[in-house]
Amino acid sequence: MEPRLQRRVQRYGWDKAAQFYDDAWKEQLRPAQDKLLEMAEFKPGEKVLETSCGTGLVTFRAAGQVAPGGEVVATDLSGTMVELAGDLAKKQSIDNVSFYRMDAEELDLEDNQFDTAICSLGLMYFPYPAEALKEMHLVLKPGGKAVVAIWGERKNCGWADIFPIVDKHVASEVCPMFFQQGTGNTLNHSLESAGFENIDTERFKKTLHFSSREHVLTAAFDGGPVALAYRKFDDQTKEAVHQEYLDSIAPYRKNGGYAIPGEFVVAKGVKPVR
Ligand SMILES: C[S@@+](CC[C@H](N)C(=O)[O-])C[C@H]1O[C@@H](n2cnc3c(N)ncnc32)[C@H](O)[C@@H]1O
Repeated sequence: MEPRLQRRVQRYGWDKAAQFYDDAWKEQLRPAQDKLLEMAEFKPGEKVLETSCGTGLVTFRAAGQVAPGGEVVATDLSGTMVELAGDLAKKQSIDNVSFYRMDAEELDLEDNQFDTAICSLGLMYFPYPAEALKEMHLVLKPGGKAVVAIWGERKNCGWADIFPIVDKHVASEVCPMFFQQGTGNTLNHSLESAGFENIDTERFKKTLHFSSREHVLTAAFDGGPVALAYRKFDDQTKEAVHQEYLDSIAPYRKNGGYAIPGEFVVAKGVKPVR
């Protein structure tokens, strides 16, 4: 897919998905977010950059861990995500976070200023993930670290057929390279080529629990990356893709809901001091 189109599909798709995201995905993504926060080893006073912050699920936890004295600058391509997260910060009186709409591949920020840069489950959606890692590298202070969480290998993610099922009904693929970084050592190599050293990677499997048919369908179609394409389908096409997706995850039915296998990779790299 042409990169500009991919960015538009992502930006406006996540605008639509924002209102469904937390209810659909909060619990399922928690293990990857916990691991990212553990590997980040935040300390009070640190200045943190987050790219693809979404609704702030990781942002607010990071902000708590760097207080007092620290702050999180959180960015996302979707204006609705950034607005929603900003409203949540206000409601909770969290004053050491700021939110900006910004493409992770083109950070409009000064170099060498952050102690840590994080990206939780965003890299799969960028046309050039390696560019985003280079941008994180640039804005980190020497000795600063980047911590990135992504989905793992396609064969270990039981929900993966959502992409070909939706792609059949649209002119171009929604997320052409979704599983690329999570396959083999690709993420390690991308971090290395962005200039990071001392890279540490953890790959782990987790079962994703969805309480009902409605929950699993909302998560797949309304609350995620295919939301823009899905909104444009007529009712008949919506019914057809629901059925195909339910067929693809039928082996994982459990107690009226679904227990779907998933795999995550979380990696950390350090910007060398030279
Ligand atoms: C699955 S959500 C992850 C949100 C949050 N980090 C979390 O862990 O819950 C993916 C996010 O990536 C954002 N995104 C997609 N493409 C992007 C890009 N090129 N630059 C910045 N953010 C992007 C989306 O808008 C969306 O909010």
